[in-house]
Amino acid sequence: MKTLIANWKMNVGIRESVALARGTLLTLRGRKLIPELVICPSTIALSEVRKVVARSSVSLGAQNVFWESKGPYTGEISTRMLQEVGVSYVILGHSERRQELHETDEMIHKKVLYVLSEQMTPILCIGESKQQREAGQTQEVIRAQLISALSQVYVRGSERVLIAYEPVWAIGSGEASSVGEVIEIHQYIRSFLQELFPGVSSQQLPILYGGSVDGENAYGFLREEMIDGLLIGGASIKINQFNDIVEAAGEVLEAQGT
Ligand code: PGA
Repeated sequence: MKTLIANWKMNVGIRESVALARGTLLTLRGRKLIPELVICPSTIALSEVRKVVARSSVSLGAQNVFWESKGPYTGEISTRMLQEVGVSYVILGHSERRQELHETDEMIHKKVLYVLSEQMTPILCIGESKQQREAGQTQEVIRAQLISALSQVYVRGSERVLIAYEPVWAIGSGEASSVGEVIEIHQYIRSFLQELFPGVSSQQLPILYGGSVDGENAYGFLREEMIDGLLIGGASIKINQFNDIVEAAGEVLEAQGT
């Protein structure tokens, strides 16, 4: 299986999101094999987008959540509220939130625990900055992010945690990481996850890549067995680009006979 996460960020309002959701559904039409597809609109567009995707195979994701079910948390939103509008996935630890909103590892950890306890699926973003990469600290940074976010986490039954490896310098820069480098890091993450969660299958802990994925480079990532899917920002709101990415996923699935 290959998974595509469309992260629309703070780019489209309600009307545009509805149109984009319709366009996204069309990218799946007529294909024999389709990837698992999760679209993550802004919070305000969730309930309208839900109406569009309700009877499709597309799942809804949120871009953030708080770690309590209700209370005096002005401006925040709870898992229950998200569930009311059909959300089953939540992006957590995105570097834009880590940087711009000073979200700490501790906050991300609380969110991961809370999302899992509410039977939702976290999409945990990790990745090194340019300086950390240049200082040769990539593995160390990733390891620390995983240890912090996943401590006390158990992946039981049908639960899943999606890990999105997104090098910060590759996000929105037009400069994706090379396939070779991504494979190397994914191998590192995979072996570390095996240590943290012995016996838990890789289907329950898929590792995705994100950072300047587009219609041209998607196939190169998706055809690799080590890369379980992609988290797509900019190209997910350009329907032609996104269509090419879905097509690339379809080709890979066909070639793999899955
Ligand atoms: P990008 O964003 O595809 O625009 O680089 C990816 C992300 O931030 O999730």
